[in-house]
Amino acid sequence: MDTEKLGASRIMNWLARPGGAVMKSRLRHWLFEPGKTLRGADIKSGQTVLEVGCGTGFFTIPAARMVGETGRLIAMDPLSDYVDLVRGKTRQARLNNVEVVRRDALHTGLDTASVDLVLLFGVVPFPTLPLSRLLPEMHRILKVDGRLAVWLFPAPAGVPASILRSGLFTALGKRNGVHNYRRMEQPV
Ligand SMILES: C[S@@+](CC[C@H](N)C(=O)[O-])C[C@H]1O[C@@H](n2cnc3c(N)ncnc32)[C@H](O)[C@@H]1O
Repeated sequence: MDTEKLGASRIMNWLARPGGAVMKSRLRHWLFEPGKTLRGADIKSGQTVLEVGCGTGFFTIPAARMVGETGRLIAMDPLSDYVDLVRGKTRQARLNNVEVVRRDALHTGLDTASVDLVLLFGVVPFPTLPLSRLLPEMHRILKVDGRLAVWLFPAPAGVPASILRSGLFTALGKRNGVHNYRRMEQPV
């Protein structure tokens, strides 16, 4: 399946509309404050952060503010409607530190060891993001001391166990509902 190709198709974007309406709803903002969840990922000013599956940008704008002007946020999603929407939001917020990229995160196209932190927020498990293929790509693009932050909703217990079983990441603990991992230099 070519996720990137599918993400440009009208039918896929149309099918994603109801999900998008829920993701950007006022109720969601009211129930879940994105900044609070993001603080669980311990984003630092100046970092290069990859947000996998940015969707309608629920986490994108607050995350971009956290990396600051000296940092860089790469917001990635294969769906063209979401990418257009998030580009519009970043323009409106006058944020110059965000690159919104229409791409499949299984093939990010990013340089090896170029990213400080990867955010997997509300994206796993997802049929087009199998951990068996996603985690090796995240391990490749993360710097030696890079981190992976995973927020799950709803929270399937199997995901943290699969991440540890991959032998690519080691657990750092959970904060504000976010599971944090460090990249292992020597995969086991
Ligand atoms: C449930 S939504 C979550 C969106 C956003 N993170 C949020 O919490 O509002 C999952 C997102 O993952 C994106 N996605 C699916 N497969 C992907 C892939 N292979 N690479 C990158 N993003 C993907 C979908 O298009 C969708 O926007």
